[in-house]
Amino acid sequence: MRCLIICFLIYVSLTDVTTAENSVVEFHMEKSSNRNPCTYFENERVAVGVEGLINCTWYAPNACCKRTEVTSVFSRMPPLYGASQECTNHVNYMMCYFCAPDQVYWYHKDQDRKVHVCIDFCKSVHHHCQGAMYEGTRIGDVYQNGTSFCEAQNFHVIDGKQNCFKFDPGVFDLANTISGSGLLVLVLSFITLGFQ
Ligand SMILES: *[C@@H]1O[C@H](CO)[C@@H](O)[C@H](O)[C@H]1NC(C)=O
Ligand SMILES: *[C@@H]1O[C@H](CO)[C@@H](O)[C@H](O)[C@H]1NC(C)=O
Repeated sequence: MRCLIICFLIYVSLTDVTTAENSVVEFHMEKSSNRNPCTYFENERVAVGVEGLINCTWYAPNACCKRTEVTSVFSRMPPLYGASQECTNHVNYMMCYFCAPDQVYWYHKDQDRKVHVCIDFCKSVHHHCQGAMYEGTRIGDVYQNGTSFCEAQNFHVIDGKQNCFKFDPGVFDLANTISGSGLLVLVLSFITLGFQ
């Protein structure tokens, strides 16, 4: 099955930037002693606050990715035609997996090196995106169900709710309700983190 959207984008984009990023000095290291390890990445990276994180903004207070990596992945994303807001939200959330600070629970460096994704997330992304078009193909025509969609992204589908990557609709509800003050909320979370 052809790998659409997520796995290709992330593979290409992250292999590009990782080399460039190695020379960048890590700030915040002194605060990181009891942060979760970022198992998706090769070096000894831990989750830290990332100021000005775009696209995967909900992870800004505690993220495994860098701003440049997210920019690189999202700038290569071809448009999904006819995608509802729900579809876009689901795909964006799925693409941000490498930022998630809890990846140690569902990405095992020493095992299969695949994102272990909860089946419910796969079902809902498939449900909301089946009518959308990607590179001239209707997603629902290529993938009959959520499992085949996620497996085509090179994810490993977990038939359960534990130790798997799951969707959090709350991050988008928040953005919709308070759109203008979203930045303020982020700024406030940084301030709070700083004084803990
Ligand atoms: C990612 O964020 C940038 C800057 O906010 C925005 O222009 C772009 O449309 C976003 N990309 C996606 C796919 O949401
Ligand atoms: C999902 O679709 C694939 C073919 O695309 C099929 O082989 C598989 O049995 C389906 N799984 C479920 C749970 O329906």
